[in-house]
This record gives sequence, C-alpha cells and structure tokens, in this order.
Amino acid sequence: MSSLRATARARSNIALVKYWGKRDARLNLPAAGSLSLTLDGLQTTTTVCFGASASDELVLGDAPAPPAALAKALRVVDRVRALAALQAPVRIESSNSFPTGAGLASSASGLAALAVAAAHAAGLALSPAELSALARLGSGSACRSVFGGFVEWRAGEAADGSDSHAVPLFPPAHWGLAVCVAVVSEDAKPTGSSEGMQRTAGSPFQAAFLAGVAEDLDAARAAIAARALSELARVAERSCLRMHAAMMAADPPLLYLRPQSWQVIEAAMRLRARGVPAFFTADAGPNVKIFCEAGALAEVTRTIAALGCVRRVLEAHPGAGVELLE
Ligand code: PMV
Repeated sequence: MSSLRATARARSNIALVKYWGKRDARLNLPAAGSLSLTLDGLQTTTTVCFGASASDELVLGDAPAPPAALAKALRVVDRVRALAALQAPVRIESSNSFPTGAGLASSASGLAALAVAAAHAAGLALSPAELSALARLGSGSACRSVFGGFVEWRAGEAADGSDSHAVPLFPPAHWGLAVCVAVVSEDAKPTGSSEGMQRTAGSPFQAAFLAGVAEDLDAARAAIAARALSELARVAERSCLRMHAAMMAADPPLLYLRPQSWQVIEAAMRLRARGVPAFFTADAGPNVKIFCEAGALAEVTRTIAALGCVRRVLEAHPGAGVELLE
C-alpha cells in the first residue's frame, strides 16, 4: 500500500481562564469555556504516516510511547480514519522542543500537531474549527493550540461536540507579553488531568469555580483588548486559585502545588506590588508560569531564578497556531 504522510508543528498554550471539568468525558466536552495564550517556546513536531507499519505505533522522541499516550493519540487517529474511510495502521513520530517528562504540558502541542498531521496525511480538507474539534478529542486544551495568540475555547452545546472548538481572539503580536516558566519539579504528575477532573467533579467548590467562568471570560477578553495587565492579572490569578481550591477540596484531595510553587506565587505577587507588570498562573502540576510585559521579563526571570527553589527557568513569547510542514 502506498503511504500517506504529513508533518505538522504546534505550540503549547497556557490558560488564563482555566478549563477544569467535563460535561462529556468521551468527547472531551468541557463544562465551561476557557481562554489561553499560545506560546512559541514549547513546541511539538509530529509526523503521521498511514500504511507504513504493521500496527499502530507512537514514538515519542527516540522511544516507544507508553500505552496511555498511544490510546490518547488513537482517539484523534480513529476519528480521522472514520472520516477518511481509511483502515491502514498509523505510525506517529513526535518530538518536543522542550524536555519531555519535565512536568511541562506537552499534551496541548502534541495533540494539536497530531490532529493536523493526521487529517492531512489522510487527505481530509478540514476547516480550522474542525481541526480544533478534532484535536479536542485527544486532549481538551489541544483545541486551543490550533490557533496562535489569544484563543478562546467555546464550550458549545451540541451533543456531538461539533460546536465545541477554539476560536482565535487576538494574534500573537496584539500584545507584547512574555512568560517565565518556573520549573520547580521535573517529575511526571501523579494524577493526570482526566482523572483529576473526574475527582474534582465531586468537590463542593467545583460548582462555584464553574459559576465564575462566564464572568472571567468577559473580563479577560476586555482586559486583553485593552492590553490592561492589572485587570488580566486579577482574572487570571482568581481563575487559577479557584480551580486549585476546587481541586484541594476534592475527596481524596488533589494537591498539585508544592511548597516551592507557593514561593514562586508569592514572589510574583511581590513583584506586582512593587510595580512590575507580572502575574502568576499554574495548571495541573507544580510548575508556575509568570506572565509579564515583555520589557519586564529579564527582571522577572532574575527574581525567580534567585529564589533558590526553582530548578530551571524557561522563557516564552506569544506564538503562532499550528503549521503544516510537509
Ligand atoms: O487538556 P487537558 O486534559 O490536559 O487539561 C488541561 C487543564 C489545565 O491545564 C489545568 C487548564 C487549561 O485550561 O489548560
């Protein structure tokens, strides 16, 4: 059989208004919308080839991927095979520009690159919205990495998920922000996001977190349109902390933030209190991301690196959406 092949590159994204909770776990349909910034520093390049292997394979870097990662990828690939009426086995080769297993989110960039490469390899002509909904099947946040800059994932209402995809809000050049990623632990997270969301569904604070999302989305859109950092700081920090409050109140509790994470969070708050335009956010892991005006990045990075509790610091800027390479 002749092989069908394509390569795509996608970048990670970090949510300013968090996605945490599903209304449909099979289709990764969210309980509410979310909003993020796509970053240039953390990217995944993925090649998909149909018909060149005896069975479905996923290679991450130089090594075969664990079964759970292949299963996630096949949620996207199986949908592509169904749409293209294709039965051929798939071989996926994926590599990250950042250290894997370092506790940095790679699922958003990985699944977005996979969706676009797989659709093209299979000869499907999908719209950007359809590619975003396809990436969502692998990992919810991946639907946002299809687009560059500031992106909103509209929760949608349709039972089949067709209206649950991301839309671009503002291009990367809209606002000269930068992000300092404070890596406090390089361990893989003990509880993945799907299991974590399932557990948090029973948290007495989850309803309160979800009830605030619509207002947070309105406030974040307005703050970004006006390039108002202190307004965006307020929304992003409360969205992050409400999400972590809901996680912590789950039974058994989900504690993603470590003592070192709180040291970084407090340092970001101190920076802003003395006039440095910066704020923090953190996801389902201990590493903290500090957003700032690009002109403040050197000072932010210096301050965070000097804390002594941070293993390494990465810097990133607003990035583009997914690109088809060949
Ligand atoms: O897309 P997932 O299943 O990896 O979930 C991502 C969840 C958070 O990163 C914590 C929040 C978000 O909106 O990205």
